[in-house]
Amino acid sequence: MPDAVKVGFVPFSTASRGTLVLFCDDALKFGSAASKALGAAAGIVKRAAATNRFKGKSGSALDILAPEGLKVARLIVVGVGKLSDIKANDFLKLGGVVAGKLGADNDIVTVIAELPSGAMKPDQSAAIASGIRLRAYKFDRYKTKKKDGEDAALSADVSIAVSDVTAAKKAFAPDNHIVDGVILARELVNEPPNVLFPVEFARRASRLRKLGVGVEILDVKAMTRLKMGALLGVSQGSTQPGRTVIMRWNGGKRGEQPVAFVGKGVCFDTGGISIKPAASMEDMKGDMGGAACVVGLMHTLAARKAKVNAIGAIGLVENMPDGNSQRPGDIVTSMSGQTIEIINTDAEGRLVLADVLWYVKEKFKPKFMVDLATLTGAIMVALGTEYAGLFSNNDQLAERLTKVGLETGERVWRMPLGPEYDKQIDSQFADMKNTGSRNGGSITAAQFLQRFVDGTPWAHLDIAGTAMAAPNTDINHSWGSGYGVRLLERLVAEYYEAKR
Ligand code: BES
Ligand code: MN
Ligand code: ZN
Repeated sequence: MPDAVKVGFVPFSTASRGTLVLFCDDALKFGSAASKALGAAAGIVKRAAATNRFKGKSGSALDILAPEGLKVARLIVVGVGKLSDIKANDFLKLGGVVAGKLGADNDIVTVIAELPSGAMKPDQSAAIASGIRLRAYKFDRYKTKKKDGEDAALSADVSIAVSDVTAAKKAFAPDNHIVDGVILARELVNEPPNVLFPVEFARRASRLRKLGVGVEILDVKAMTRLKMGALLGVSQGSTQPGRTVIMRWNGGKRGEQPVAFVGKGVCFDTGGISIKPAASMEDMKGDMGGAACVVGLMHTLAARKAKVNAIGAIGLVENMPDGNSQRPGDIVTSMSGQTIEIINTDAEGRLVLADVLWYVKEKFKPKFMVDLATLTGAIMVALGTEYAGLFSNNDQLAERLTKVGLETGERVWRMPLGPEYDKQIDSQFADMKNTGSRNGGSITAAQFLQRFVDGTPWAHLDIAGTAMAAPNTDINHSWGSGYGVRLLERLVAEYYEAKR
């Protein structure tokens, strides 16, 4: 099990067992419940802190085995830093720090959700719980043996001691569904491409039916009927047939226009005839990170019974070189009727999205569309792995995304669009080319996508740097990060709050 940690809430008065986790500030001060749990053992914390030069800095931890005078086997003190510096975002990270300290055999853990200034609020305790689960996730399904010193996935039964159990449980219920959505997205990104090909991906997405999501799967015949020539052109070189999956969650007002999320689902991107170099090509199993996020998001919205109407749409293909592959020079006709000259078969993501964006816009007339795609290497050159690139034709949507990015820590940075960039993708033979020059590669890709949204309020997130192979953080040690689920869940929540 990649996610074998159970988290629950108990009252402060519950006796601690196994491993006890307490929080202190940068003056090594504890709250009253923590002090009570420590009792006479408070002295050993002082001594251990002095020898380990532990100063209670935010995210640092002090680990004391078999603490004298305490019934527990292990005491972990986690620093929260200066109380006045604590931000809303920090509780998730603190949960991650706690989980990072626990090993595989810490089966029973008690975390006292208290700051020196008093009990954590319900949403703060819930964030601790989420942080623990997010950090504990490990993708080890295909490991049949463990090397010496290699950590197994955390398997633990964590009790979070709080002042108000009912309130904490209530706050955690929706958050727990968000964590499930993130973990689902990570699983999909981490799965190898021989396991997760388009048909199998569609099958996994169809599991959302159990939650009440309507799932429609368009096969090659259906996509041919719809004239999705751009997507099908990418797919035609693979023995694995492509799919488009439409997920529908109707939790909002009957008949109200939905919001829509569109994901690039290239289950493996070899580059096609414009083949990629061998180095790191294995990473291209993650080229469906956008689609994975959309599935994780739809899972969350349905599981938490969000009062919204939302569409999730993913274009699933494999980009392979083959006798039947499309060639540079080919001209394909997209569902929109616009023709595209293929210059580089490795610029396939925009071709897939072109048809799915058009389909979603035509069929659902959404209030807005957000697409996510591991679209360009150039976005990593521009922004590294800390921010996703944001492109939008709508300032309000862009501002909302920027705001929820800061709130969730899944940050986005707005990049420009503009007709000046169109020159780069003008074609002498067709309505457009699928690549521009090397300069501004992420921008011309976004400019290409914009031609298929037809004025619908739209944002494009280039997540090539954030969805996969992202550096480890306090809340993620998995190759597939699940980026975007928390961001867009918050976007949806705030969008509907603002309208009420
Ligand atoms: N999937 C890649 C982009 C990518 C590269 C994502 C590295 C994550 C890590 C995309 O399909 C691609 O190949 N883009 C090309 C576009 C170019 C041919 C215009 C790129 O970025 O080099
Ligand atoms: Mn490519
Ligand atoms: Zn790609």
